[in-house]
Amino acid sequence: MANPKKLIAGNWKMNGLRAALDQVRAVIADLPSIDNDVEMAVCPPATLAAPIADLAADTRLAVGGQDCHAKASGAHTGDISAEMWADLGARYVIVGHSERRQDHGETDEIVASKATAAHRAGLTPIICVGESLEQRKAGKTVQVVTSQVRASLPQSAAGSPFVIAYEPIWAIGTGLTPTVEQVGEVHAAIRACLTNALGPAGKAPLILYGGSVKPDNAAELMHIEEVGGALVGGASLKATDFLAIARAATGD
Ligand code: PGA
Repeated sequence: MANPKKLIAGNWKMNGLRAALDQVRAVIADLPSIDNDVEMAVCPPATLAAPIADLAADTRLAVGGQDCHAKASGAHTGDISAEMWADLGARYVIVGHSERRQDHGETDEIVASKATAAHRAGLTPIICVGESLEQRKAGKTVQVVTSQVRASLPQSAAGSPFVIAYEPIWAIGTGLTPTVEQVGEVHAAIRACLTNALGPAGKAPLILYGGSVKPDNAAELMHIEEVGGALVGGASLKATDFLAIARAATGD
């Protein structure tokens, strides 16, 4: 399936008990008010994935995993394969989130193998990249991010859809966001990196911005050149905020 024009994906991380299903119901109820060019996706914790997939079935709400294993099945306690996410009806899987890179030592090579697994299962991987505050202060942002992109691409990058999410680590969950110029610079560099690596196929992938996206800053961030949507953490847990961000993506 090709990418939508804009993607607003909610990354619930390790948040949400069953009561949070009400938030998903509220998002689904308001989907008719969201422009058809905008796709909304929820990436819940594994415990809520099945009921959310059931709620989302036959609606415009897409479901995604927060991570997947590179293998299709086997003795990997606690892990979930891309095939399992696909079996649930998921369309996306996040790979290489900075919290996975930090907490679980995931290298670009591991992230690329997970993105390849996503394609094998027919999913669209959302491949996360982003610099630390130290790297930004040292003037290395573009170099760090483009090298992560190059090394995290799946084998099948030229033939199957994928999404890049640029998430500066220092902006995640902090309320801090880069300036419009800083976001524009990195997104342009990612686009150039993709077209260098893939030729014309590098023009298609959406490049999301992530890191403290909220209803009050979404319109500004979502209208920057080459910003194809958002990967939203904290603000995706509340239906009204998540919907407001999706509305801001088209300026409605
Ligand atoms: P945040 O998280 O929106 O809470 O900053 C974004 C993310 O980590 O995907």
